Amino acid sequence: MRVRFPKEFLWGAATAAYQIEGAAAEDGKGPSIWDTYAHTPHHITGGDTGDVACDHYHRCREDVLLMKELGLRAYRFSISWPRLIPKGKGRPNAKGLAFYDRLVDELLAAGIEPLCTLYHWDLPQALEDAGGWPARRTADCFADYAALAFKHYGDRVHTWLTLNEPICSSVLGYYSGIHAPGRKSLPDALSAAHTLLLAHGKAVGAFRASGARGRVGIVLNLGYSEPASESPEDIAAADRDDAFDNRWFLGPVFGKGYPQVLLDWYGGEMCKVNDGDMKVISAPIDVFGLNYYTGTRVRHDASGGPLKCKGQQLLEPGCKLTEMGWGVWPEGLYRLLVRVRKEYADIPVMVTENGMAAPDVPDENGHIDDQARIDYLSRHFAAAARAMKDGVKLEGYTVWSLMDNFEWSFGFSKRFGLIYTEYRTQARIMKESAKWYARVIADGGFDI
Ligand code: FCB
Repeated sequence: MRVRFPKEFLWGAATAAYQIEGAAAEDGKGPSIWDTYAHTPHHITGGDTGDVACDHYHRCREDVLLMKELGLRAYRFSISWPRLIPKGKGRPNAKGLAFYDRLVDELLAAGIEPLCTLYHWDLPQALEDAGGWPARRTADCFADYAALAFKHYGDRVHTWLTLNEPICSSVLGYYSGIHAPGRKSLPDALSAAHTLLLAHGKAVGAFRASGARGRVGIVLNLGYSEPASESPEDIAAADRDDAFDNRWFLGPVFGKGYPQVLLDWYGGEMCKVNDGDMKVISAPIDVFGLNYYTGTRVRHDASGGPLKCKGQQLLEPGCKLTEMGWGVWPEGLYRLLVRVRKEYADIPVMVTENGMAAPDVPDENGHIDDQARIDYLSRHFAAAARAMKDGVKLEGYTVWSLMDNFEWSFGFSKRFGLIYTEYRTQARIMKESAKWYARVIADGGFDI
Protein backbone atom coordinates (compact mmCIF):
# COMPACT_ATOMS: atom_id res chain seq x y z
CA MET A 1 0.00 0.00 0.00
CA ARG A 2 1.23 3.48 -0.87
CA VAL A 3 1.21 6.07 1.91
CA ARG A 4 1.12 9.54 0.37
CA PHE A 5 1.66 13.03 1.72
CA PRO A 6 0.92 16.41 0.15
CA LYS A 7 3.72 18.12 -1.79
CA GLU A 8 4.01 21.00 0.64
CA PHE A 9 4.13 18.75 3.75
CA LEU A 10 6.72 20.06 6.21
CA TRP A 11 9.01 17.09 6.71
CA GLY A 12 11.60 17.85 9.30
CA ALA A 13 13.60 16.88 12.34
CA ALA A 14 13.73 18.25 15.86
CA THR A 15 16.36 18.98 18.50
CA ALA A 16 16.66 21.05 21.69
CA ALA A 17 19.36 23.50 22.73
CA TYR A 18 20.76 21.79 25.81
CA GLN A 19 20.75 18.40 24.11
CA ILE A 20 22.97 19.42 21.19
CA GLU A 21 24.63 22.82 21.50
CA GLY A 22 27.41 22.40 24.06
CA ALA A 23 29.32 25.68 24.58
CA ALA A 24 27.64 25.71 27.95
CA ALA A 25 29.61 28.64 29.32
CA GLU A 26 30.81 30.28 26.16
CA ASP A 27 30.25 33.72 24.67
CA GLY A 28 28.41 35.03 27.69
CA LYS A 29 25.85 32.25 28.11
CA GLY A 30 24.51 32.05 31.67
CA PRO A 31 24.02 28.72 33.46
CA SER A 32 20.69 26.97 33.17
CA ILE A 33 19.09 24.56 35.60
CA TRP A 34 20.30 21.73 33.35
CA ASP A 35 23.93 22.86 33.67
CA THR A 36 23.58 22.78 37.43
CA TYR A 37 21.62 19.55 37.54
CA ALA A 38 23.93 17.64 35.20
CA HIS A 39 26.96 18.74 37.19
CA THR A 40 25.50 17.36 40.40
CA PRO A 41 26.85 13.82 41.05
CA HIS A 42 24.57 10.82 40.41
CA HIS A 43 21.98 12.72 38.38
CA ILE A 44 22.99 11.60 34.90
CA THR A 45 23.93 8.14 33.63
CA GLY A 46 27.70 7.92 33.26
CA GLY A 47 28.17 11.38 34.78
CA ASP A 48 27.51 12.90 31.32
CA THR A 49 26.76 16.61 30.91
CA GLY A 50 25.71 18.88 28.07
CA ASP A 51 28.95 20.89 28.28
CA VAL A 52 29.93 19.77 24.78
CA ALA A 53 27.03 17.52 23.67
CA CYS A 54 27.06 17.48 19.83
CA ASP A 55 29.10 20.69 19.72
CA HIS A 56 26.39 22.10 17.51
CA TYR A 57 27.19 25.63 18.67
CA HIS A 58 30.40 25.41 16.67
CA ARG A 59 29.14 23.09 13.95
CA CYS A 60 25.77 24.55 13.11
CA ARG A 61 26.78 25.31 9.54
CA GLU A 62 27.78 21.68 8.84
CA ASP A 63 24.67 20.42 10.61
CA VAL A 64 22.43 22.56 8.41
CA LEU A 65 24.22 21.11 5.37
CA LEU A 66 23.34 17.62 6.61
CA MET A 67 19.70 18.70 6.92
CA LYS A 68 19.86 19.96 3.36
CA GLU A 69 21.34 16.67 2.20
CA LEU A 70 18.38 14.91 3.79
CA GLY A 71 16.00 17.24 1.97
CA LEU A 72 14.41 18.51 5.18
CA ARG A 73 11.86 21.26 4.70
CA ALA A 74 11.65 22.25 8.34
CA TYR A 75 13.86 22.16 11.38
CA ARG A 76 12.52 22.45 14.91
CA PHE A 77 15.13 23.78 17.33
CA SER A 78 14.96 25.55 20.66
CA ILE A 79 16.55 28.76 21.85
CA SER A 80 18.51 28.57 25.08
CA TRP A 81 16.96 31.30 27.23
CA PRO A 82 20.20 31.86 29.25
CA ARG A 83 22.20 32.17 26.04
CA LEU A 84 19.97 35.08 25.03
CA ILE A 85 19.47 36.55 28.51
CA PRO A 86 22.13 35.12 30.84
CA LYS A 87 20.29 35.88 34.07
CA GLY A 88 16.83 35.25 32.70
CA LYS A 89 15.84 38.90 32.85
CA GLY A 90 17.62 42.11 32.02
CA ARG A 91 20.40 42.63 29.54
CA PRO A 92 20.46 40.42 26.44
CA ASN A 93 23.68 38.78 25.30
CA ALA A 94 24.66 40.01 21.83
CA LYS A 95 26.73 36.90 21.08
CA GLY A 96 23.84 34.65 22.02
CA LEU A 97 21.51 36.56 19.72
CA ALA A 98 24.12 36.28 16.98
CA PHE A 99 24.32 32.50 17.27
CA TYR A 100 20.63 32.01 16.44
CA ASP A 101 20.93 34.66 13.73
CA ARG A 102 23.55 32.46 12.12
CA LEU A 103 21.47 29.33 12.54
CA VAL A 104 18.28 30.90 11.17
CA ASP A 105 20.11 32.47 8.24
CA GLU A 106 21.83 29.18 7.37
CA LEU A 107 18.47 27.42 7.47
CA LEU A 108 16.79 29.96 5.25
CA ALA A 109 19.69 29.87 2.79
CA ALA A 110 19.25 26.08 2.64
CA GLY A 111 15.51 26.43 2.01
CA ILE A 112 14.60 24.97 5.41
CA GLU A 113 11.85 26.55 7.47
CA PRO A 114 12.86 27.33 11.07
CA LEU A 115 10.34 26.22 13.70
CA CYS A 116 11.41 27.76 16.96
CA THR A 117 10.66 26.47 20.46
CA LEU A 118 11.23 29.10 23.12
CA TYR A 119 11.48 26.81 26.12
CA HIS A 120 12.82 23.28 26.00
CA TRP A 121 13.57 22.96 29.71
CA ASP A 122 16.69 25.09 30.25
CA LEU A 123 15.48 27.73 32.72
CA PRO A 124 18.17 30.29 33.61
CA GLN A 125 19.61 29.23 36.96
CA ALA A 126 19.24 32.78 38.29
CA LEU A 127 15.47 32.46 37.91
CA GLU A 128 15.42 29.09 39.66
CA ASP A 129 17.36 30.73 42.50
CA ALA A 130 14.61 33.35 42.66
CA GLY A 131 11.89 30.70 43.01
CA GLY A 132 11.82 28.92 39.64
CA TRP A 133 8.64 27.86 37.89
CA PRO A 134 6.55 27.65 41.07
CA ALA A 135 6.95 31.46 41.36
CA ARG A 136 4.40 33.39 39.29
CA ARG A 137 6.85 36.14 38.31
CA THR A 138 8.80 33.60 36.23
CA ALA A 139 5.90 33.77 33.76
CA ASP A 140 6.47 37.51 33.29
CA CYS A 141 10.20 36.96 32.75
CA PHE A 142 9.33 34.36 30.11
CA ALA A 143 6.98 36.73 28.32
CA ASP A 144 9.74 39.40 28.21
CA TYR A 145 12.23 36.87 26.85
CA ALA A 146 9.67 35.73 24.26
CA ALA A 147 9.05 39.35 23.22
CA LEU A 148 12.79 39.81 22.65
CA ALA A 149 12.89 36.69 20.46
CA PHE A 150 9.81 37.78 18.45
CA LYS A 151 11.32 41.22 17.91
CA HIS A 152 14.76 39.99 16.95
CA TYR A 153 13.91 36.94 14.80
CA GLY A 154 10.30 37.65 13.86
CA ASP A 155 11.26 38.87 10.40
CA ARG A 156 12.66 35.39 9.60
CA VAL A 157 11.02 32.89 11.95
CA HIS A 158 7.31 32.46 11.32
CA THR A 159 6.39 29.49 13.48
CA TRP A 160 6.84 29.85 17.24
CA LEU A 161 6.23 27.24 19.90
CA THR A 162 6.18 28.60 23.42
CA LEU A 163 6.83 25.57 25.64
CA ASN A 164 7.90 22.02 25.06
CA GLU A 165 6.09 19.45 27.20
CA PRO A 166 5.30 21.55 30.29
CA ILE A 167 4.27 18.40 32.15
CA CYS A 168 7.92 17.30 32.14
CA SER A 169 9.17 20.70 33.33
CA SER A 170 6.71 20.62 36.22
CA VAL A 171 6.30 16.98 37.28
CA LEU A 172 9.72 15.55 36.42
CA GLY A 173 11.52 18.73 37.49
CA TYR A 174 9.66 19.64 40.68
CA TYR A 175 7.96 16.47 41.88
CA SER A 176 9.92 13.38 40.91
CA GLY A 177 13.22 15.23 40.73
CA ILE A 178 14.53 13.16 37.81
CA HIS A 179 14.89 16.31 35.70
CA ALA A 180 16.32 19.72 36.56
CA PRO A 181 16.02 21.41 38.95
CA GLY A 182 15.51 18.15 40.85
CA ARG A 183 13.05 19.31 43.51
CA LYS A 184 10.66 16.82 45.11
CA SER A 185 7.51 18.62 46.16
CA LEU A 186 4.00 18.02 44.86
CA PRO A 187 2.73 21.56 45.62
CA ASP A 188 5.77 22.98 43.81
CA ALA A 189 5.07 20.79 40.80
CA LEU A 190 1.43 21.84 40.70
CA SER A 191 2.35 25.53 41.00
CA ALA A 192 5.05 25.12 38.37
CA ALA A 193 2.50 23.65 35.96
CA HIS A 194 0.23 26.65 36.46
CA THR A 195 3.03 29.20 36.02
CA LEU A 196 4.18 27.41 32.89
CA LEU A 197 0.68 27.65 31.46
CA LEU A 198 0.55 31.34 32.38
CA ALA A 199 3.94 31.84 30.76
CA HIS A 200 2.57 30.27 27.58
CA GLY A 201 -0.52 32.51 27.58
CA LYS A 202 1.50 35.65 28.26
CA ALA A 203 3.92 34.78 25.46
CA VAL A 204 1.00 34.33 23.06
CA GLY A 205 -0.15 37.82 24.14
CA ALA A 206 3.36 39.18 23.56
CA PHE A 207 3.38 37.62 20.11
CA ARG A 208 0.11 39.32 19.13
CA ALA A 209 1.37 42.62 20.57
CA SER A 210 4.65 42.34 18.65
CA GLY A 211 2.86 42.55 15.33
CA ALA A 212 5.22 39.84 14.02
CA ARG A 213 3.76 37.85 11.19
CA GLY A 214 3.47 34.13 11.46
CA ARG A 215 1.94 31.93 14.09
CA VAL A 216 2.32 30.77 17.63
CA GLY A 217 1.38 27.63 19.52
CA ILE A 218 2.51 25.15 22.16
CA VAL A 219 3.96 21.63 22.17
CA LEU A 220 2.35 19.04 24.43
CA ASN A 221 3.32 15.41 24.78
CA LEU A 222 0.18 13.35 24.85
CA GLY A 223 -0.15 9.71 25.71
CA TYR A 224 -2.94 7.43 24.69
CA SER A 225 -4.39 5.46 27.56
CA GLU A 226 -7.11 2.86 27.57
CA PRO A 227 -8.56 1.00 30.53
CA ALA A 228 -7.00 -2.44 30.90
CA SER A 229 -10.46 -3.98 31.43
CA GLU A 230 -14.13 -3.09 31.63
CA SER A 231 -14.00 -2.91 35.42
CA PRO A 232 -15.21 0.42 36.87
CA GLU A 233 -11.90 0.75 38.80
CA ASP A 234 -9.80 0.40 35.66
CA ILE A 235 -12.06 2.77 33.73
CA ALA A 236 -11.74 5.38 36.48
CA ALA A 237 -7.97 4.88 36.68
CA ALA A 238 -7.63 5.32 32.92
CA ASP A 239 -9.72 8.47 33.09
CA ARG A 240 -7.46 9.95 35.78
CA ASP A 241 -4.45 8.89 33.76
CA ASP A 242 -5.83 10.70 30.73
CA ALA A 243 -6.65 13.76 32.85
CA PHE A 244 -3.09 13.80 34.11
CA ASP A 245 -1.26 13.12 30.85
CA ASN A 246 -3.51 14.98 28.44
CA ARG A 247 -6.37 17.11 29.77
CA TRP A 248 -4.25 18.84 32.46
CA PHE A 249 -2.63 20.99 29.77
CA LEU A 250 -4.98 20.60 26.80
CA GLY A 251 -7.93 21.79 28.91
CA PRO A 252 -6.54 25.17 30.03
CA VAL A 253 -4.85 25.93 26.68
CA PHE A 254 -8.07 25.33 24.76
CA GLY A 255 -10.39 27.09 27.19
CA LYS A 256 -11.84 24.04 28.97
CA GLY A 257 -10.05 24.60 32.26
CA TYR A 258 -8.38 22.09 34.52
CA PRO A 259 -10.02 18.64 34.49
CA GLN A 260 -12.36 18.29 37.47
CA VAL A 261 -11.07 14.82 38.31
CA LEU A 262 -7.57 16.27 38.84
CA LEU A 263 -8.87 19.17 40.95
CA ASP A 264 -10.75 16.67 43.10
CA TRP A 265 -7.74 14.41 43.37
CA TYR A 266 -5.23 17.09 44.35
CA GLY A 267 -7.72 19.18 46.34
CA GLY A 268 -5.94 21.58 48.67
CA GLU A 269 -2.56 20.89 47.12
CA MET A 270 -3.63 22.45 43.83
CA CYS A 271 -2.13 25.90 43.44
CA LYS A 272 -3.98 29.17 43.65
CA VAL A 273 -5.59 30.25 40.39
CA ASN A 274 -6.08 34.01 40.23
CA ASP A 275 -9.00 35.71 38.52
CA GLY A 276 -8.24 36.10 34.87
CA ASP A 277 -5.51 33.43 34.72
CA MET A 278 -7.56 30.99 32.70
CA LYS A 279 -8.38 33.70 30.17
CA VAL A 280 -4.68 34.51 29.71
CA ILE A 281 -3.81 30.82 29.35
CA SER A 282 -6.50 30.15 26.79
CA ALA A 283 -5.50 32.95 24.40
CA PRO A 284 -6.21 31.45 20.96
CA ILE A 285 -3.25 29.74 19.30
CA ASP A 286 -2.60 29.21 15.60
CA VAL A 287 -0.85 25.86 15.58
CA PHE A 288 -0.64 22.87 17.90
CA GLY A 289 2.46 20.71 18.30
CA LEU A 290 1.96 17.11 19.35
CA ASN A 291 4.82 14.98 20.67
CA TYR A 292 3.93 11.32 20.61
CA TYR A 293 5.95 8.33 21.73
CA THR A 294 3.72 5.69 23.25
CA GLY A 295 0.38 4.54 24.57
CA THR A 296 -0.56 2.31 27.47
CA ARG A 297 -3.36 0.41 29.12
CA VAL A 298 -4.16 1.41 32.63
CA ARG A 299 -5.03 -0.81 35.55
CA HIS A 300 -6.28 0.50 38.88
CA ASP A 301 -3.46 0.65 41.44
CA ALA A 302 -4.66 0.18 44.98
CA SER A 303 -1.38 1.36 46.50
CA GLY A 304 -2.41 5.02 46.16
CA GLY A 305 0.18 7.77 46.64
CA PRO A 306 0.03 11.32 45.30
CA LEU A 307 0.72 10.66 41.65
CA LYS A 308 -0.60 7.12 41.70
CA CYS A 309 -3.80 8.60 40.46
CA LYS A 310 -2.22 7.45 37.23
CA GLY A 311 -2.70 3.77 37.94
CA GLN A 312 -0.50 0.96 36.73
CA GLN A 313 0.75 1.25 33.16
CA LEU A 314 0.54 -1.91 31.04
CA LEU A 315 1.68 -2.38 27.48
CA GLU A 316 -0.68 -2.81 24.59
CA PRO A 317 -0.79 -6.56 24.00
CA GLY A 318 1.82 -7.67 21.48
CA CYS A 319 3.52 -4.32 21.03
CA LYS A 320 7.28 -4.08 20.67
CA LEU A 321 9.45 -2.08 23.04
CA THR A 322 11.99 0.58 22.19
CA GLU A 323 15.26 0.87 24.08
CA MET A 324 13.55 3.29 26.48
CA GLY A 325 11.09 0.52 27.33
CA TRP A 326 8.31 2.48 25.61
CA GLY A 327 5.71 0.41 23.76
CA VAL A 328 5.41 0.97 20.01
CA TRP A 329 1.78 1.80 19.35
CA PRO A 330 1.13 3.94 16.23
CA GLU A 331 -2.64 3.66 16.60
CA GLY A 332 -2.35 5.97 19.62
CA LEU A 333 -0.97 8.74 17.41
CA TYR A 334 -3.92 8.42 15.04
CA ARG A 335 -6.43 8.49 17.89
CA LEU A 336 -4.83 11.49 19.59
CA LEU A 337 -4.67 13.55 16.39
CA VAL A 338 -8.32 12.86 15.67
CA ARG A 339 -9.29 13.56 19.26
CA VAL A 340 -7.51 16.92 19.49
CA ARG A 341 -9.38 18.05 16.39
CA LYS A 342 -12.73 16.79 17.62
CA GLU A 343 -12.55 17.77 21.28
CA TYR A 344 -10.26 20.82 21.34
CA ALA A 345 -9.59 22.70 18.12
CA ASP A 346 -9.63 22.14 14.40
CA ILE A 347 -6.42 24.08 13.80
CA PRO A 348 -3.17 23.32 11.98
CA VAL A 349 -1.21 20.62 13.77
CA MET A 350 2.33 19.33 13.58
CA VAL A 351 3.78 16.18 14.99
CA THR A 352 6.66 18.02 16.63
CA GLU A 353 8.33 14.88 18.02
CA ASN A 354 8.16 11.17 17.32
CA GLY A 355 10.97 8.67 17.10
CA MET A 356 12.71 5.91 19.00
CA ALA A 357 15.89 5.04 20.84
CA ALA A 358 17.83 2.01 19.66
CA PRO A 359 21.22 0.52 20.55
CA ASP A 360 22.76 1.69 17.27
CA VAL A 361 26.35 0.69 16.59
CA PRO A 362 28.23 1.19 13.31
CA ASP A 363 29.30 -2.09 11.66
CA GLU A 364 32.83 -2.66 10.36
CA ASN A 365 32.00 -0.59 7.26
CA GLY A 366 30.63 2.24 9.33
CA HIS A 367 26.97 1.49 8.41
CA ILE A 368 24.19 1.73 10.94
CA ASP A 369 21.40 -0.51 9.82
CA ASP A 370 18.55 0.70 12.06
CA GLN A 371 15.66 -1.19 10.46
CA ALA A 372 13.63 -1.04 13.67
CA ARG A 373 13.59 2.77 13.44
CA ILE A 374 12.48 2.64 9.80
CA ASP A 375 9.68 0.30 10.82
CA TYR A 376 8.73 2.57 13.74
CA LEU A 377 8.67 5.73 11.64
CA SER A 378 6.86 4.20 8.69
CA ARG A 379 4.07 2.90 10.93
CA HIS A 380 3.70 6.26 12.66
CA PHE A 381 3.80 8.17 9.36
CA ALA A 382 1.04 5.87 8.09
CA ALA A 383 -1.05 6.61 11.19
CA ALA A 384 -0.53 10.34 10.60
CA ALA A 385 -1.57 10.02 6.94
CA ARG A 386 -4.73 8.24 8.04
CA ALA A 387 -5.54 11.09 10.44
CA MET A 388 -5.10 13.57 7.58
CA LYS A 389 -7.54 11.58 5.46
CA ASP A 390 -9.98 11.87 8.33
CA GLY A 391 -9.74 15.65 8.33
CA VAL A 392 -6.86 16.49 10.69
CA LYS A 393 -4.98 19.55 9.42
CA LEU A 394 -1.57 18.00 9.82
CA GLU A 395 1.01 20.25 8.21
CA GLY A 396 4.30 18.76 9.22
CA TYR A 397 6.26 16.14 11.10
CA THR A 398 9.58 16.75 12.81
CA VAL A 399 11.18 13.45 13.73
CA TRP A 400 12.94 13.18 17.07
CA SER A 401 15.78 13.57 16.53
CA LEU A 402 18.04 14.97 13.85
CA MET A 403 21.02 13.36 15.56
CA ASP A 404 21.91 11.36 18.65
CA ASN A 405 22.21 13.74 21.57
CA PHE A 406 22.15 14.26 25.33
CA GLU A 407 19.05 12.38 26.42
CA TRP A 408 18.51 14.21 29.73
CA SER A 409 19.07 11.95 32.76
CA PHE A 410 20.11 9.10 30.44
CA GLY A 411 23.02 11.18 29.16
CA PHE A 412 24.49 9.87 25.91
CA SER A 413 23.38 6.30 26.56
CA LYS A 414 20.21 6.57 24.42
CA ARG A 415 20.40 7.20 20.70
CA PHE A 416 17.31 8.73 19.04
CA GLY A 417 19.01 10.23 15.98
CA LEU A 418 18.49 9.80 12.27
CA ILE A 419 22.16 10.72 12.22
CA TYR A 420 24.67 8.89 14.41
CA THR A 421 26.88 11.09 16.58
CA GLU A 422 30.34 9.73 17.34
CA TYR A 423 30.91 11.77 20.50
CA ARG A 424 34.67 11.26 20.63
CA THR A 425 35.32 12.83 17.24
CA GLN A 426 31.99 14.59 16.66
CA ALA A 427 31.72 12.73 13.35
CA ARG A 428 28.15 12.44 12.06
CA ILE A 429 27.06 9.31 10.16
CA MET A 430 23.75 8.98 8.33
CA LYS A 431 21.94 5.93 9.65
CA GLU A 432 19.91 3.81 7.19
CA SER A 433 16.79 5.49 8.62
CA ALA A 434 18.12 8.89 7.54
CA LYS A 435 18.63 7.64 3.98
CA TRP A 436 15.18 6.07 4.00
CA TYR A 437 13.68 9.32 5.33
CA ALA A 438 15.39 11.32 2.59
CA ARG A 439 13.71 9.05 0.01
CA VAL A 440 10.30 9.41 1.68
CA ILE A 441 10.65 13.20 1.52
CA ALA A 442 11.82 13.20 -2.08
CA ASP A 443 9.05 10.76 -3.17
CA GLY A 444 6.28 12.30 -1.08
CA GLY A 445 5.48 8.93 0.45
CA PHE A 446 6.45 5.29 0.70
CA ASP A 447 5.11 1.76 0.37
CA ILE A 448 4.10 -0.15 3.43
C1 FCB B 1 10.78 14.24 24.80
C2 FCB B 1 11.65 15.48 24.86
C3 FCB B 1 12.88 15.41 23.99
C4 FCB B 1 13.50 14.05 23.99
C5 FCB B 1 12.47 12.98 23.73
C6 FCB B 1 13.02 11.58 23.67
O1 FCB B 1 10.04 14.13 25.97
O2 FCB B 1 10.91 16.62 24.50
O3 FCB B 1 13.76 16.42 24.38
O4 FCB B 1 14.20 13.84 25.15
O5 FCB B 1 11.47 13.03 24.70
